[in-house]
Amino acid sequence: MAETINQWAVITIVLSGLALCVGVYLIRRGMREAHMRAMIVAVALASVFLVLYLTRLSLGYEKKYDGPEEWRTAYFVLLISHIILATANLPLALGALWNAVKGLKAAGNLGNIDAPAARGYFNRHRAWVRWTVPVWLYVAVTGWIIYIVLHSYGEVIKG
Ligand code: HEM
Repeated sequence: MAETINQWAVITIVLSGLALCVGVYLIRRGMREAHMRAMIVAVALASVFLVLYLTRLSLGYEKKYDGPEEWRTAYFVLLISHIILATANLPLALGALWNAVKGLKAAGNLGNIDAPAARGYFNRHRAWVRWTVPVWLYVAVTGWIIYIVLHSYGEVIKG
């Protein structure tokens, strides 16, 4: 059961990371509508991941590092930085999303983002995403590395 939840958690977070990359690519091409859809998918999948991850923890399923000693410190530095930034990522993503949604409401549609009532929100959206995107990418990439390390060198300690 916990193992299946873990596998779905991995699938949802990998897809969420891909949707983030697609969303960033789309806004670079000026495709706002498609950007919005990709980002909503990324946030929704990340939320599903969070629920699955917390369920897995509540079932008491955990893996501990049981790999080469000379890699232990590097692994823990990676793990701790991942946990700290994953925690920071939640308010960062919410701040970015909140300003985008308020901006869209003020603009009426995404062709009108320079309307005076909307511009401030989208400026703040841009300011938030300057931090959100690199943090989110770091969390995604380190999360995948941790998964691969534990898949090869992890030992199930509970569940
Ligand atoms: C947490 C989710 C989101 C992230 C990480 C994100 C990320 C980004 C990034 C990286 C940019 C480019 C910023 C720049 O060029 O300096 C951007 C711009 C933009 N985003 Fe998002 N976005 C998110 C959600 C949304 C949503 C839900 C909407 C629509 C309601 C939206 C609408 C826009 C628009 C219209 C722009 C262009 C702003 C401008 O040109 O001033 N974004 N976003």
